[in-house]
Amino acid sequence: MTKRLWFGNLARSLDNKMGEEGKRTKISNQQDFGVVHQFRNHLAGIVIGSNTLVIDNPSLRTKREYVDAGTISHPIPIIFDRRGRLNASHRVLKYLETETLIHVSNNSSPTLPDTVEVINFTSLTETVDRINQRLTELGRSGPVMVEGGRTLLKVMIEMDIVKKVRIFTSDVVYPKSDLRLLFQASHSFHLLSTSQIANGVEQIFLIRPV
Ligand SMILES: NC(=O)c1ccc[n+]([C@@H]2O[C@H](COP(=O)([O-])OP(=O)(O)OC[C@H]3O[C@@H](n4cnc5c(N)ncnc54)[C@H](OP(=O)(O)O)[C@@H]3O)[C@@H](O)[C@H]2O)c1
Repeated sequence: MTKRLWFGNLARSLDNKMGEEGKRTKISNQQDFGVVHQFRNHLAGIVIGSNTLVIDNPSLRTKREYVDAGTISHPIPIIFDRRGRLNASHRVLKYLETETLIHVSNNSSPTLPDTVEVINFTSLTETVDRINQRLTELGRSGPVMVEGGRTLLKVMIEMDIVKKVRIFTSDVVYPKSDLRLLFQASHSFHLLSTSQIANGVEQIFLIRPV
């Protein structure tokens, strides 16, 4: 098995919500985006679950305006989507003429471009091992960042896949939202660092099974 760090990155509101139900919600500020895009520039891969794919429709690219470097690198998008909801309209496929996307799916559409590599989902740990191996074969060193949403992140913490998490807490509140960040008692969180980022706070935690 390849030794590769998988870490979580998430933004939450002051009242501990990861957004508003069913829509893309802006929680981060420009400075936090800067940090996230600098991470993206050094990642092997970036992971999202199928609800984030459908609701946020992110490109998962590294945006040049946030990166202070001559050349930029884009992480390989890795979409956990057993039901096969990924389709040609999603932004993540827009840039994939030559670059690879890993589609973790048991129902991937045969009409997707050839640059979409399908890994059939078996168990989570076995699937993660196969992704790590494939990233190595593709010459991708560096960590994998799990960008959400909360369902996938929670299960990846419970299964000891995600061992570190960066949480950006902003000063916005979403009292009507039920999208609370949920962690289980099976793991403990050890604060490694805290820093203020404009109107928010970044905290980095090491995660250990109890
Ligand atoms: N604040 C933030 O930092 C942040 C970041 C990202 C997203 N979000 C928000 O979060 C919301 C989406 O989050 P969500 O919790 O509803 O969904 P999600 O975590 O994005 O996706 C859930 C999906 O991931 C797949 N999945 C979950 N557990 C799995 C497992 N054990 N093995 C394999 N696949 C698994 C399943 O898809 P299949 O059943 O299709 O396989 C599941 O339906 C959106 O509103 C989005 O805006 C917030």
